[in-house]
Amino acid sequence: MVTAIFPAAGSSTRMGGGVNKNLLKLAGEPILIRTLKTFSQVERVNLLIVAVAEHEVETVEKLLSATENLKPYCVTVGGSERQYSIANCLKLLPDDAEIILVHDAARPLISLQTINDVIDAAEEFGGAIAAVPAKDTIKIVDAEGFVKYTPPRRELAVVQTPQGFKREILLRAYDKAAKEKFLGTDDASLVERLGIKIKVVTSSYENIKITTPEDIHVAETFLQRNDKK
Ligand code: CTP
Ligand code: MG
Repeated sequence: MVTAIFPAAGSSTRMGGGVNKNLLKLAGEPILIRTLKTFSQVERVNLLIVAVAEHEVETVEKLLSATENLKPYCVTVGGSERQYSIANCLKLLPDDAEIILVHDAARPLISLQTINDVIDAAEEFGGAIAAVPAKDTIKIVDAEGFVKYTPPRRELAVVQTPQGFKREILLRAYDKAAKEKFLGTDDASLVERLGIKIKVVTSSYENIKITTPEDIHVAETFLQRNDKK
């Protein structure tokens, strides 16, 4: 069975406005709800674990209980870093969770296809991440603002979520990171430190992370276009 974890406890600094961006509405429905509804359509997913700020737990529990067609869920308190929010969720894993998916609540345009592809690859390889090929040339830049070198674009993947792992691997990776005080910017970077090879699954450019105010408009445009299809 698959348990899906949703970090939603950030401070939404780049969005501004002093509210949790995951509770903002996208074409009439909160971002978090859109995300959870999509994962609820995946048969193999049996539990959703959401991390939010302590003062939001009650609001979010009410919001979820008023939403139909969600898989069983629990809401927990997040931490000061995304990694700590996920670590809190990992404490609630049920015994039957064989594969763990971690997905930014702020990526509501995730497709069923990508979720299923990441689960399949995590089962086969132990760890898998959704990603798209880099569109831009990317430079490695030094502290003085000069280019150090240019990695070949064909080797660059822009990483998204979901990221999926076998339970034992993810728990071991989080354990090691905590012991060694390593803070990564994604979950795979913790697993890579175990020497495990992560499979890259091609996702969609639509799977954006709602980060700044203009992302809301971009996401609504994608939603409208997909409605018309
Ligand atoms: N997140 C979290 N706990 C944190 C930080 C982030 O659960 N301490 C979550 C966010 O709520 C979001 C996801 O991780 O769903 C991706 O993080 P990001 O897009 O950076 O969101 P914020 O950290 O809230 O935004 P910002 O960096 O602009 O403050
Ligand atoms: Mg952040």
